Amino acid sequence: MSAILPPAERLWYRHPIDRVEGTWIALALLWCLIMFFMMVGWHIWGRQNLSTETYRTTPDKFMASVQAMVDKYTVRTETDEKTPVVAPPPGSDVYLLARLWAYYPILELEVGKTYRLHLSAMDYNHGFSLQPANINIQMVPGFEHVVTITPNHSGTYSVVCNEYCGIGHHKMVGRIYIKK
Ligand code: CUA
Repeated sequence: MSAILPPAERLWYRHPIDRVEGTWIALALLWCLIMFFMMVGWHIWGRQNLSTETYRTTPDKFMASVQAMVDKYTVRTETDEKTPVVAPPPGSDVYLLARLWAYYPILELEVGKTYRLHLSAMDYNHGFSLQPANINIQMVPGFEHVVTITPNHSGTYSVVCNEYCGIGHHKMVGRIYIKK
């Protein structure tokens, strides 16, 4: 039986598998396995797949950490909503929350300094897609992802939500400033 032509008989599964078909199945399986083990590999070689630590939290607890940082280190406000721009000291814990449909606050970090960036969501799943660096991390309610980051380029970065989160998803963007 050919792999291209339709089966001649109704009980097609009784037929021995064609060599071409078998080869394709074997190739597909092999590729699946390669991709599967690359998940480990990307943490070593892939620059946009940061290894994160994950901890349980609650929206209230996380909000308290965010607000404590905002109260202490706000340097100015921006946008119509008066979003605080927060410049925490190098080496400190930095918090960014996602909620319908905004990120809070705006962070201002320094090149070459290391920070512990904590990410969590208040309501639903949101995405943390840092552009143009193309770093992707999920922001999940009830959990905080912690990434150790050392920005290597100055500039204005956008945080884009890449998890569909409802009617305002397309306008959910945040900002991170990296100063020299
Ligand atoms: Cu938040 Cu999509």
